[in-house]
Amino acid sequence: MKATQEHSTLSVKHLLGIKDLTSEDIELIFRQADEFKSVLQRPIKKVPSLRDVTVANLFFENSTRTRLSFELAEKRLSADVVNFSASTSSVKKGETLVDTVKNILAMKVDMVVMRHASPGAAVFLSRHIPAVIVNAGDGTHEHPTQALLDAYSIREKLGSVKGKRVAIIGDITHSRVALSNIYCLQKLGAEVMVCGPTTLIPKHIESLGVRVEHHLERALAWCDVANMLRIQLERQDAGVRYFPSLREYVMQFGVDQSMLEKLNKPILLMHPGPINRGVEITSEVADGPNSIILNQVENGVAIRMAVIYLLAQGIQRD
Ligand code: CP
Repeated sequence: MKATQEHSTLSVKHLLGIKDLTSEDIELIFRQADEFKSVLQRPIKKVPSLRDVTVANLFFENSTRTRLSFELAEKRLSADVVNFSASTSSVKKGETLVDTVKNILAMKVDMVVMRHASPGAAVFLSRHIPAVIVNAGDGTHEHPTQALLDAYSIREKLGSVKGKRVAIIGDITHSRVALSNIYCLQKLGAEVMVCGPTTLIPKHIESLGVRVEHHLERALAWCDVANMLRIQLERQDAGVRYFPSLREYVMQFGVDQSMLEKLNKPILLMHPGPINRGVEITSEVADGPNSIILNQVENGVAIRMAVIYLLAQGIQRD
């Protein structure tokens, strides 16, 4: 199965970040995801495309959605899949990242999907081993497949990303989702705003070409899409204070249904998960008519199938 438009191969060997992709790469991934999404509606949700490919999923950090979504995507493409979790591995005995991955590659693995707490870990790996690398989130840096599935979900609901106004609301400073979304949405022609308390917006973020807003109601009035980011409670629990209390954060930046109704216009409400219900959004909003949160999760499988399928074209075979 191949995308039928003029570009049929990606300009990159690895998916390390959205920053490296062209808009044509993103459009190619979306067209390929369209094809895989139709496969996923069939009774037999599987194609034999990657029967000769072995993928290792290396998760050095916790994950629910991304990990399951990659594994499902790989299995739907008929790849052989091995899963690795840092908490049950010899990493606990002091083995380095490169040694761990070289040992896995000695078992003839073609592609590595990796989540790691260190920004730049995927780039580092791509310079030390010959496999295709897919970044499944590297610290506070990038989460490229999340941004692709987010933009794909906007395109699906609104027809196009070009010209749309997207507000990314919440903890921008610690968010890999925010940076990848900014790159992806801008490459596709959207206008992007970030909104949150001053302490959770990086200094000089305007240099990326985004608007900055500190008032939630103004952000909601401006946007077509609000992408609500998780407040990273573990950082507050660790004793670092970015706002006086959770209650105060909710009062200033939490979205409830009455706010959406007052807008007198439809907006899409997104969230990459995991949600803190009652913090960044209420349960009524998370499960309400504006929310496309589960559409995002569904689209994640088709997007990851497309990414893996397109990158597999660059695998060197003996
Ligand atoms: N959206 C996302 O990355 O979720 P997980 O941390 O559960 O993978």
